[in-house]
Amino acid sequence: MRLDKFLCETTELTRTLAKKAMHRGEVSIDGEMVKNPATQVGEAQQVTWLGQRLSLVGLRYLMVYKPAGVECTARRGLYPLITDLVDLPKAERLQTVGRLDVDTTGLVLLTDDGQWSHRVTSPKRRCGKVYRVALADPIEGDAEKDVRRAFAEGVLLDGEEKPTRPAELEMTSPTEARLTLFEGKYHQVKRMFAAVGNRVEALHRESIGDIKLDAGLAPGEWRHLTDEEIASV
Ligand code: URA
Repeated sequence: MRLDKFLCETTELTRTLAKKAMHRGEVSIDGEMVKNPATQVGEAQQVTWLGQRLSLVGLRYLMVYKPAGVECTARRGLYPLITDLVDLPKAERLQTVGRLDVDTTGLVLLTDDGQWSHRVTSPKRRCGKVYRVALADPIEGDAEKDVRRAFAEGVLLDGEEKPTRPAELEMTSPTEARLTLFEGKYHQVKRMFAAVGNRVEALHRESIGDIKLDAGLAPGEWRHLTDEEIASV
């Protein structure tokens, strides 16, 4: 691949800016400054720009604190996209690992590693997703036991043929719950509470498996996952 194309693929530079960066002596191949944009880059060669090593195959793993009003899709619509919050080159290529609704807040994982994403979302791996839920109607007394049992046994959602997989419900107050799901159906939390005659007023995802939303992040902020977090799934 030509060096100018390589720079475009691996950084936010356009081809014109890549050429200018080369001209300024900012780009090296295997430690040698290279100014010719047509130079071919071989697979085993190391390209650096401003001392930063560039890689075509580098896989990225991030957590984002999703605020309300942001969409977890790749297609641009009414709302800003989750990848708009990430100030990395080619952020739009990152895939969401299990979407949140536009009004849901909390932990979203982004990666370009399809296999890892599949591991996180596959129900067979039982990677629990923990949601904090605010409810319209209180659940108290016997009703609490009934709903807990219904969710543990599985509920049939509107339009589905199979019941939900066993989920764990903990009521933290009459109108607040913590719900752990081991699968990810469309609007699942909202539909599960609708199935027992309630309504979700606010929804926040706290964790996915052992990966917890970093308390140091504010809504809209992100950070790279640690090696330990990546390996935990
Ligand atoms: N369940 C929902 O209903 N919405 C979400 O955003 C996530 C899980």
